[in-house]
Amino acid sequence: MLSVTRNCVYLSRIYNLQAMCLRFTMKFIIVAFVCIIGINALSEKEQWLTFKQNHGKNYKNIAEENYRFSVFQNNLRQISEHNERYTNGETTYFLGVNKFADRTSDEFRGMLKSQKINLLNSEDAKLNKLSKTVEAAEAPVDWRSKGVVLPVRDQGDCGGSWPFAVAASIESQNVIINNVTEQLSTQQFIDCYGPQVDKCNITGDILNGFDYAQDYRLLPESEYPYVGAQSVCTADTNKGIVRAYSVFVAQSSEAILQAYIGKYGPMASTINADCIQLYAGGIFSNSSCPNTINDINFALLNVGYDTSSDGIEYWILKNSWGTGWGEEGYLRLKKGDKELGINLRNGLPFIYR
Ligand SMILES: *[C@@H]1O[C@H](CO)[C@@H](O)[C@H](O)[C@H]1NC(C)=O
Ligand SMILES: *[C@@H]1O[C@H](CO)[C@@H](O)[C@H](O)[C@H]1NC(C)=O
Ligand SMILES: *[C@@H]1O[C@H](CO)[C@@H](O)[C@H](O)[C@H]1NC(C)=O
Repeated sequence: MLSVTRNCVYLSRIYNLQAMCLRFTMKFIIVAFVCIIGINALSEKEQWLTFKQNHGKNYKNIAEENYRFSVFQNNLRQISEHNERYTNGETTYFLGVNKFADRTSDEFRGMLKSQKINLLNSEDAKLNKLSKTVEAAEAPVDWRSKGVVLPVRDQGDCGGSWPFAVAASIESQNVIINNVTEQLSTQQFIDCYGPQVDKCNITGDILNGFDYAQDYRLLPESEYPYVGAQSVCTADTNKGIVRAYSVFVAQSSEAILQAYIGKYGPMASTINADCIQLYAGGIFSNSSCPNTINDINFALLNVGYDTSSDGIEYWILKNSWGTGWGEEGYLRLKKGDKELGINLRNGLPFIYR
């Protein structure tokens, strides 16, 4: 019974039919029936039309549209092959159509490549000193349930994920320490940090964001809204509401990372995101995916950790690709095997009082 319901939720999710199935989870047999009928009835062309509509896709001409449709079809095949392995219990996560489903994996990786991170060695030492003072928390932690994680955002076409991860980590601390629930401006980081170059596209790092947040007060999103492209800095930092310094958990064990997150709150985490283009749910785990420091190219917010009913430990990560990606915008990532390089570079802000 459980697995029928689970499969239905997963089937509905990957085909963007959640409303239809979830409404009837009690009547699981009907649900399975409705799901299977519904999905078989959808041709690739129909799925394409739904995809374009859901994501507001417009292509500049017929040739481009035809090409994008062929990429989409390839992705559909990859999704269904992978998901067959999921239903057979051979893998712990499933794939689905999302806004990246009209891109090849090379294009997707190209987008991430521009954000590749250069590691500075200096802060590793700083962190390792701090790490010994924290005791590992045993119980699962999900900071969302404590009301300190703000809604999932969408960075759109701007490639820079680090402003979102850094802002999100400081937002959470601002709730924990000051009881202030206020979305912070990511545009301020993009426009105002460092040289006036295209920060949507160049190498970015959570270190950039934490550097900036140490020197300048951060504005609320409402004062300096996101436009998703580099522009001239017009931030009036007198209107800023918070400033923070940070420590890094770098090249550490995941147990140390867990201890920090359990004790202090969500952290800005970095990973290699090459493999998660079409992730739609479950616990991501794939040891073939790159996970060295040279592969790190993406940042998100680590909000906690738990263990699944079948005993797999995982991290809970808030992404900035909207709620249509992953599990309502979140990634669950297997913990304990340094998957995607999660242990390599994590930043924790402390609010200046
Ligand atoms: C990033 O660079 C690509 C190509 O170099 C360009 O097409 C794109 O518009 C740039 N993105 C932004 C947000 O500036
Ligand atoms: C936090 O703020 C809310 C209103 O914004 C208030 O109702 C609540 O009592 C505050 N909590 C604490 C611990 O101060
Ligand atoms: C793991 O990742 C590799 C490299 O991206 C990919 O070729 C493979 O299909 C993935 N395996 C699973 C089970 O997802």
